Amino acid sequence: MGVKVPTRLAGWLWPLAVANILCNIGIVVTGAAVRLTGSGLGCPTWPRCTEDSLRPHGELGINGAIEFGNRMLTFVLAVVAILCFLAAIAAKDRVATRLSFLIGLYIPAQAVIGGITVLTDLNPWVVSLHFLSSMVIIMFCLGLMDHLRSPARPAAPSAHRLVALLMFVTGWVVLYLGTVVTGAGPHAGDADARRNGLDPEMTSFVHAGSVALLIALTVLLLVLARRSGDRWLTVVTGALLGIELAQGLVGVVQYATDLPVLLVALHMLGAGLLAAGLARILLAVRPHEAQHDVPGALLSWASGEARDADHSQSPGGGEPLGDRRA
Ligand code: HEM
Repeated sequence: MGVKVPTRLAGWLWPLAVANILCNIGIVVTGAAVRLTGSGLGCPTWPRCTEDSLRPHGELGINGAIEFGNRMLTFVLAVVAILCFLAAIAAKDRVATRLSFLIGLYIPAQAVIGGITVLTDLNPWVVSLHFLSSMVIIMFCLGLMDHLRSPARPAAPSAHRLVALLMFVTGWVVLYLGTVVTGAGPHAGDADARRNGLDPEMTSFVHAGSVALLIALTVLLLVLARRSGDRWLTVVTGALLGIELAQGLVGVVQYATDLPVLLVALHMLGAGLLAAGLARILLAVRPHEAQHDVPGALLSWASGEARDADHSQSPGGGEPLGDRRA
């Protein structure tokens, strides 16, 4: 890369990778605050707040302050992403450098999509794109964390990989349909913003149906992981199942109680966690060579025993680790 950075930054790579994901999940929740307080057009234009000012003025009131505050958080995200990128360079870790570069690149792209949501007066399909883009960044952040700290493992058997892939696709369908329900519902982000015109009840029903499929696939993967004695896959699939059940419960309660804002915000937090969990599962069935020492009782337990059975000898076993290294 030819960039000179202080080598001591390398020691900060892991904390910065964690900070990256926390910030990106955090901005989903503050984005929820913007929408749920009706502040989506608190700053009526973009990139300036108003035609003649970069910052909100008194007339825009609390809505202006909330929307502007969310815009400013972009800079916090950018600083963390840049530091993480520099730490990856200092650590001479090519995969981490590429991933943190991608995460950093996504932030201005997401700021522009956020700007387009304002310029289109909160068109629900653009709001959906803005939300789903955050889910993509969260997945990259999780990819970076997985690269830095997760147990060494060979590829999982093909049945596990197929179910994991189906879960990943279904998970994206769930996330997308969730945004369609939001586009049909009352929390538009501004009293005058248009809705997508679909029936909220029908879309909620389809959304919940896709959740049921996701949960069924997750239970299936959990059974497969347990049967093959794969501790790491069992742990991460069990954790994702917990997130799905909690998120499903929040979804049902918010639906039954006419969408109270706190529950809707919690549901958006759950969606961010689910995105991270889906990426984790997709990676957990792929081969991985531990790059750094893996501290922590849970990880070292899973490291020692992850897929201790040699899958190259089992029926339908995955490829040996060496064959799938990039
Ligand atoms: C794994 C479980 C679930 C996930 C990952 C999930 C995900 C999502 C996402 C991403 C959104 C859109 C958030 C936004 O655009 O701001 C959403 C909205 C919504 N979800 Fe879910 N959901 C789940 C379960 C459920 C269930 C079981 C129900 C029950 C009907 C439900 C009801 C709703 C409703 C009513 C909305 C619209 C909220 C609004 O208008 O602001 N969700 N969901």
